[in-house]
Amino acid sequence: MDATQMFIKENQQRFLDELFQILKIPSISADPAYTQDVLDMAELNAKFLKNAGLDNVEVCETEGYPVVYAEKIIDEKLPTVLIYGHYDVQPPDPLDKWDSGPFEPVIKKTEIHPEGAIFARGAADDKGQYFMHIKAVEAMIANNQLPCNVKFMIEGEEEVGSESLGGFVKKNKEKLKNDVILISDTSLVAKDIPSLCTGLRGLSYVEVSVKGADMDLHSGIYGGAAPNPINVLCQMIAKLHDENGKITIPGFYDNVIELSTNERAEMAKVPFDLDAYKNSIGIKNIHGEKGYSTNERNSIRPTLDVNGIWGGYTGEGAKTVIPSVAHAKISMRLVPDQNPEKITEMFMDYFKSLAPDSVEVSCKPHHGGLPYVLPSDGKGYEAAKKALSHTFGKETIPFRSGGSIPIVALFEQELGSKSVLMGFGLDSDVIHSPNENYGLFNFYKGIETIPYFFEYFAQD
Ligand code: BES
Ligand code: MN
Ligand code: MN
Repeated sequence: MDATQMFIKENQQRFLDELFQILKIPSISADPAYTQDVLDMAELNAKFLKNAGLDNVEVCETEGYPVVYAEKIIDEKLPTVLIYGHYDVQPPDPLDKWDSGPFEPVIKKTEIHPEGAIFARGAADDKGQYFMHIKAVEAMIANNQLPCNVKFMIEGEEEVGSESLGGFVKKNKEKLKNDVILISDTSLVAKDIPSLCTGLRGLSYVEVSVKGADMDLHSGIYGGAAPNPINVLCQMIAKLHDENGKITIPGFYDNVIELSTNERAEMAKVPFDLDAYKNSIGIKNIHGEKGYSTNERNSIRPTLDVNGIWGGYTGEGAKTVIPSVAHAKISMRLVPDQNPEKITEMFMDYFKSLAPDSVEVSCKPHHGGLPYVLPSDGKGYEAAKKALSHTFGKETIPFRSGGSIPIVALFEQELGSKSVLMGFGLDSDVIHSPNENYGLFNFYKGIETIPYFFEYFAQD
């Protein structure tokens, strides 16, 4: 891999310039106003894949945004690595909280990244991460050092639930056939700790509305007598957790797999600094389910959170009003073996049961996703572990993440493939938030590590 690594070193600046081109496109899948940008982003990926020396590069139409496919088959007898990533990004809101434009990438030094980090929406999630694979594969192809077959599948709807990808995968099983799926769309536990994500949470998401009177009412004339949907909604939400931080939906924990004492002891080895944690997000204290550590609460335990709540008057000054309707968006992160569809039903039944008879409650389920745990052994895992340990010069550790990549469970169902989650981000990248950034160290470390994954995976 020497020639490949040399090539990577010599082309560092070009790789970064190219990533900037990608980051400048506001490929926001959630907002129809950006449809053309998302489509342009797909085309630009195709261009980079072609330039990297891949064959059969295709922008495949789906019912939604296209899936970009490419491959390099050097020998049918050799194993095949399928790389998955997503070129869509979350909306950048709130815009006024960004120190520089979300689609005007810049390098800035930070405490964690004194050598610089790339600031832009999508820098870490996931443009900067899937692009590492395009560059690593380019380097291997250019130096005749690609040791096995490779396929790319980059989608444009991950941030809105990967709705078209399932159909695409089902229709293209032969084309997508592989021996392992390699994904960089998660984080390391710390910048200097080589680590592999072995679990993702699932998701259930429901929008709720509580309706009182047919119109907003004068809060003097009607206050105290007519139901106030915002007051009611808040009371209902407050009942969703008990005093120990447990979720009160009947049956919610029935299928939750509890980890063994050994597994929990293993998890507790992941370094954790409470003060640094609190400081990093500006909280006075932590919070959560009794009996579990912070790392457990945010990965192996299910949660319920209000993501947004609105209703009534929120403009300037005061308006004395009893609103007609109140709304909230509520998400639940799920763990094995909770089923998102069942949990959504349970939530809706229970939520409706909490309402007094003075209001009407309606619930609208949104996209969800299955939780996923992958084994910390097997050929793919071992190759990633060896690659990371090699480039970091340290032992690689497994950890479970709290985020969701729902399509990973479907890959296993439909393609029978295991995924390896070799992400190079950091929690401090603040993905989905203002000032998302991705360390130059992480970007280059990823490009350096990926060829070793291929080398070790192709061995024996
Ligand atoms: N890349 C993230 C998921 C992630 C980030 C997993 C960090 C682990 C560590 C992905 O793009 C994402 O944001 N997923 C969504 C789910 C989706 C259904 C909108 C999420 O987790 O909220
Ligand atoms: Mn992502
Ligand atoms: Mn995301």
